Amino acid sequence: MSRLDEVTRGRILFGGDYNPEQWPEETWHEDVRLMRDAGVNSVTLGVFSWAKLEPRPGAREFGWLDRLMDLMHASGIGVVLATPTSSPPPWMGRLHPETLPRDEDGRTEWWGGRQHFSHSSAVYRRYAAAITEDLAARYGGHPALTMWHINNEYCTFDWGDEAAGTFRRWLQDKYGTLDALNAAWGTAFWSQGYGDWDEILPPRHAHYMKNPTQVLDFRRYTSDMLLECYVAERDIVRRHTPHLPVTTNFMPMWVGQDAWKWVTEEDVVSVDLYPDPRDPFGAQNGALVQDMTRSQAGGGPWMLMEQAAGPVNWRGVNHPKPRGLNRLWSLQAVARGADAVCYFQWRQSRQGAEKFHSGMVSHAGEAGRTFQEIKGLGAELAAIGPEVTGSPLAADVVVLHEWNAWWAGAQESRPSREVDYPQVVRAWHRALWEAHVTTDFAHPEHDLSAYRLVVVPQLYLLTDAAIDNLLSYVRGGGTLVCGFLTGIADEDDRVRPGGMDARLRELFGIRTLHEWWPLEAGESAECDGFVGTLWSEELEVEGADQVIPYKGGELDGLPAVLRKGRAWYVSTLPEPPALRDLMADVAAGAGVRPVLDGLPAQVEAVRRGDLLFLLNHGRETVTVEVPGTHRDLLTGEQVAAVVELERYGAAVLAR
Ligand code: GAL
Repeated sequence: MSRLDEVTRGRILFGGDYNPEQWPEETWHEDVRLMRDAGVNSVTLGVFSWAKLEPRPGAREFGWLDRLMDLMHASGIGVVLATPTSSPPPWMGRLHPETLPRDEDGRTEWWGGRQHFSHSSAVYRRYAAAITEDLAARYGGHPALTMWHINNEYCTFDWGDEAAGTFRRWLQDKYGTLDALNAAWGTAFWSQGYGDWDEILPPRHAHYMKNPTQVLDFRRYTSDMLLECYVAERDIVRRHTPHLPVTTNFMPMWVGQDAWKWVTEEDVVSVDLYPDPRDPFGAQNGALVQDMTRSQAGGGPWMLMEQAAGPVNWRGVNHPKPRGLNRLWSLQAVARGADAVCYFQWRQSRQGAEKFHSGMVSHAGEAGRTFQEIKGLGAELAAIGPEVTGSPLAADVVVLHEWNAWWAGAQESRPSREVDYPQVVRAWHRALWEAHVTTDFAHPEHDLSAYRLVVVPQLYLLTDAAIDNLLSYVRGGGTLVCGFLTGIADEDDRVRPGGMDARLRELFGIRTLHEWWPLEAGESAECDGFVGTLWSEELEVEGADQVIPYKGGELDGLPAVLRKGRAWYVSTLPEPPALRDLMADVAAGAGVRPVLDGLPAQVEAVRRGDLLFLLNHGRETVTVEVPGTHRDLLTGEQVAAVVELERYGAAVLAR
């Protein structure tokens, strides 16, 4: 699926968003000198250039971009050219206020920031298509152009009037009749029955809880509307340049886009990733997003479109990256399948909302530590590129994640607001990461037969097809581990009979799910041998082995963890060490080996193709035993049996 190899051709892409319109042209030449010095081979131009390219409706100012494209080409730097459509010029909002989105309270999102466009606005779409058409016509044949980048982090919602119209059309396509919609939304409840399509609105501010299926459909619709915007621009650039791949950059595991659906429309999957340098699990968060992005790319190489060379500007407190961390996290991305390591942005701004966000060239300039480390990294990526690019990762374990399940489970009225879907997914991924087991991600309807172990952290909503898929996976000899709040609702968010799907209950040996016993923040459920958090359940078993019971309290003696054959059910969230040990045991039982035995806790090991990446996320020097003799591609040295990794150190070992 991934067409990134057509651009990389044996090199890791290294560079980032370049916003030269913020700088006088003399600076461009200085930029190019520094880019060459740092081994930059790719820049993304034009992401926020709409007002500069089209200063008045219909006007075109391409001269500056012509000069830049030529300059990049002359310097041997490829250009990923963006359509500028994520930030319309002020004139558009002024002349066409209907292009501005409304929030659920009816407030307008005015220009003056960015991403103030309504996905449903016909006028916005017309202007977006026109500038895209002209960019593609003008630069499609330019030798610097390597790839298209459509818009930027599609993430806008709209509850306005034009969106109400497109929402109704989307619903008509989906349901055909109002009867079908009323049945799916359960509008018999609270007198919500619709008698005319025009009565239907986006789920705007309401007195009390909104209809959950209406909200769910609104999320599906929003993702589809944004995808329509993407596809419209993609089709334009494709018509001009069928030979060039097209991407749009995702935010990591972002709630608003059903990325499994989106990636079927992309040639290259790319993501923006900003773990907090202070987060003790920043590396694991990074690994999760990297595993997910690789899986969305069908296992093929993916593009790290943006990361920060130093601090960001949007957290409460924005921490810099200590020496070595930028290199380490960049190598981690490469280990987990990235063939492109890029940044937001090349040169740190002196004005505007992101002037305190780092760049590859910080305010300290060429002499600054940030740039010096970037330069070192550029040289290392150039050295390992030929041996790394294009090589695949093999995983025996897959974690299932799905947006509809996330959306439906996050509704206003739910058993516990303490249950946060991303946190639950993170906890399970972390357990596998800490057990040094490599994991993919998949949609629950994907073919799972290649995996020895399937892990479902939580899929509140499951289609019948997904349930059948899980059942046939286990019938075929696979091992399944499933967390709580799974298989509760059907596609319309209708609770399945018995409170949890009967086929799944049979699979796990659950006769009756009597009650959920959600836990308060900080509360725990004693189990035999570990402590459960977040959730507990009153289950009656039939045909399952009770592996671990609850101890004490209301659920004393009832099963916390149960197993029937190769199907496991975990009715609480074990504390991290317990979940790690449980997963390590279940994985071993399923024939899954850790990447290396005896790894120190803070060392991550990843095999990519024939290479073994070792990454020390700790601040202490450690030694790792690696059987045999290897060549470290980063140092060129031979290493035998033991590898020493200093703080934030890394090795890329080849046989
Ligand atoms: C991304 C965005 C960039 C920049 C960056 C800052 O979300 O695509 O344009 O704003 O965040 O971290």
